[in-house]
Amino acid sequence: MSQSKNVGIIGLGKYLPEKILTNQDFEKLVDTSDAWITERTGIKERRMARPDEATSDMALAAAREALAAAKLTAQDIDLIVVATVTGDTAFPSTACRLQGALGCRPIPAFDVSAACSGYIYALTIAQNFIKAGTVRYALVVAAEKLTSVADYTDRNTCVLFGDGAGAAVLAAVDSGGILSSYLGTDGTQSELINMPAGGSRRPASHETVDQRLHYLKMNGAEVFRVAVKTMADAAMEAMNTLGVHSAEEVDLVIPHQANIRIINAVAKRMGVSLTEGKVFLNIEKYGNMSAASTAVALTEAVQQGRVKKGDRVVMVAFGSGLTWGALVIELS
Ligand SMILES: CC(C)(COP(=O)(O)OP(=O)(O)OC[C@H]1O[C@@H](n2cnc3c(N)ncnc32)[C@H](O)[C@@H]1OP(=O)(O)O)[C@@H](O)C(=O)NCCC(=O)NCCS
Repeated sequence: MSQSKNVGIIGLGKYLPEKILTNQDFEKLVDTSDAWITERTGIKERRMARPDEATSDMALAAAREALAAAKLTAQDIDLIVVATVTGDTAFPSTACRLQGALGCRPIPAFDVSAACSGYIYALTIAQNFIKAGTVRYALVVAAEKLTSVADYTDRNTCVLFGDGAGAAVLAAVDSGGILSSYLGTDGTQSELINMPAGGSRRPASHETVDQRLHYLKMNGAEVFRVAVKTMADAAMEAMNTLGVHSAEEVDLVIPHQANIRIINAVAKRMGVSLTEGKVFLNIEKYGNMSAASTAVALTEAVQQGRVKKGDRVVMVAFGSGLTWGALVIELS
């Protein structure tokens, strides 16, 4: 999809809970080791929200930082889109809670459920509201409390996930901004990563709790295989639209931070290697934060000076659904 009116990011923010869960902490919980986790995933530690800290609390902190960076107040915002699969409650949406907590005007606010691809989806949705002319300033937040659905008796999954939030304020810009966007889904593979109970198909019951069906389930090996191909293809689609055929031609690649081996394989297919410094990594510190991973990564890349105004960034993600998405952004 090529873009006509330019829409860019004018402020970024993030929030990471204070508590750190190290690989050594997991050695006490399940049959695993720091060596296995580091080698097979690239993760050394991840953050865990306090028991009284919900997804909207993390979203609020990230949103306030993004608003301050954009030199705007909550009153200036015309739209809120929150990407999450671990909202405070099934309803109302986390976006509604955020709208109330920020003290915004009675603007539209809604959640997007696209798992790890959620930030890319939400940025694209907000971009199109602005392009349509109905919204001047949009607040996009990706926030997840994955530790609330991680099963700390399952070594295959629990070591992978962490909590956090990232936020962006979008507006029309003179040049650059989101240059291309590519989104997709394959619902025939919805069983590969899912939470089986708690929805209308299997409402919560004593039985579902006893069977541990309110935790995230994943076929890791198959997800790994599909993720590599799909992320690389999505990123190439978003770049090809602009006549770009290798990640060598952009300034930074920001991939979803699920597994360092997935990132390595995706980068290779995109024409770059991890040693060149062209691929942003923070998986070691935070693990997989689903939608919040790319959001926090973009914020950190800018805050750390890895990219600056005018630089081109490719973001790419993949997750439960299956969903995938990629964006090319020229930073404003
Ligand atoms: C989960 C994942 C790290 C497993 O790594 P892997 O190298 O593929 O490992 P396998 O699944 O082949 O399992 C190999 C062995 O390691 C074991 N293992 C799994 N987790 C382990 C852990 N934390 N510690 C020690 N051993 C572990 C398995 O039980 C298996 O043992 P077995 O051979 O005795 O059955 C990897 O498949 C992965 O990252 N998948 C994608 C996950 C993902 O990105 N999900 C989110 C997408 S948005």
